[in-house]
Amino acid sequence: MSFRKDFLWGGATAANQCEGAYAVDGRGIANVDLSPIGEDRIKVITGKLKMFDFDDQHFYPAREAIDMYHHYKEDIALFADMGFRVYRLSIAWSRIFPKGDELEPNEAGLQFYEDLFNECRKYNIEPLVTITHFDCPIHLVKEYGAWRNRKLIVFYERLCRVIFNRYKGLVKYWITFNEINAILEAPFLAAGLYFEEHEDVEAVKYIASHHELVASALATKIAHEVDPENKVGCMLAALAPYPQTCNPEDIWKSKQAENESYFFIDVQARGEYPAYVLKALERKNITLPFQDGDRELLKENTVDFIGFSYYSSTVVSAAPKSTDSIGGVLLSSLPNPYLKASEWGQQIDPLGLRITMNTLYDRYQKPLFIVENGLGAVDIPDKNNYVEDDYRIKYLSDHIKAMRDGVNYDGIDLLGYTVWGPIDLVSAESGEMKKRYGFIHVDRDNFGQGTLKRTKKKSFEWYKKVISSNGEDLNY
Ligand code: BG6
Repeated sequence: MSFRKDFLWGGATAANQCEGAYAVDGRGIANVDLSPIGEDRIKVITGKLKMFDFDDQHFYPAREAIDMYHHYKEDIALFADMGFRVYRLSIAWSRIFPKGDELEPNEAGLQFYEDLFNECRKYNIEPLVTITHFDCPIHLVKEYGAWRNRKLIVFYERLCRVIFNRYKGLVKYWITFNEINAILEAPFLAAGLYFEEHEDVEAVKYIASHHELVASALATKIAHEVDPENKVGCMLAALAPYPQTCNPEDIWKSKQAENESYFFIDVQARGEYPAYVLKALERKNITLPFQDGDRELLKENTVDFIGFSYYSSTVVSAAPKSTDSIGGVLLSSLPNPYLKASEWGQQIDPLGLRITMNTLYDRYQKPLFIVENGLGAVDIPDKNNYVEDDYRIKYLSDHIKAMRDGVNYDGIDLLGYTVWGPIDLVSAESGEMKKRYGFIHVDRDNFGQGTLKRTKKKSFEWYKKVISSNGEDLNY
């Protein structure tokens, strides 16, 4: 009993959280660059505070991040040293189409990723490419209102045609939208949506979601046409909402919370909107902007695999919203008395991963891919920048055990596992560097101080052993 022989072990990053070089080689500015660290960040990423340009009062961590743009060879060599078989990364849309609506792509941006993919191939690392990891060129936000505008589908299609053709043979695994359900909680971060006062926020979110879902099906269609070898996945932020009690009202609440996220994947994996969401939108007087051909496109172009992120389970209650919720915006939860929480309030629950795998596999009957899982923690490096991160090793080891049980005892078809943030990078929600996930320490702090030097942590050698034993040896 073990993982499949070709199991894809590796790590996952996103362009805006590690590349930096925000204005280099013709790159345009994107929503993700404009999310500052500090108390305004949550207002910005949720679309409540308008931030369409940089100002002098804020620090914007994505502008330099960990400068992977100039360090990618060193970083990929370190991934190869760990034995990575896959590296999940995202393309920055604004490197390829700086404004988003041009007819011709930026050659320097295309060349950068071609070189990066070749670097991966040199070490037999399979690139897994997220086409949009939360980023949207700011020009598309300002001129078109981002994904609330159907024209975004045309621009996204153009991006897809360019990258599928250019990277044919180099890239086989694709994800259309990172954590597509994050649009509901962090609409500016996830989809460039900022709301004017008069707007029906919920309606805009569902209209934008429809456009993303159509764009995702179109991308899947084109990917398969350009190269039948291409495998395209969706990507869900799995929240595993548990009911707070066995009160049926709480059970119903958790079912609703689950459906709120799963509806995206229902569309991407089954090809149609489920009745429960259509009914809910009807009650709210929200009309989805269906056009001729959308239904057929969705039906005929479902994804090949179900990608998802899992960090923790959450707890929901039917009682009026309580103020003691923890875990932040994207993983907001009531406290679970049976679990310990991370320093950022995310409740650590390895069995929740197995439960999630079972739910997703039962529901969609398609291969799964765990494309994010990891522990954001405060690391204390010694004078040589070395970190003894046993807490991270324990978290990952417990989650890999649970995932192994899902494969061995529940028969789940699992393609791979990419740990979030194999190298320290900027946190998506808080903008901090202090919230570290990596096997590799990067000398940089929350406000851009540091040498950017890369140093292996204790977990580096541990993960190397996990990979070389194909997940059998988790000891530490
Ligand atoms: C997911 C995102 O939400 O979780 C990543 O896809 C993100 O972009 C990761 O970095 C961890 O969250 P955070 O806020 O700790 O960076």
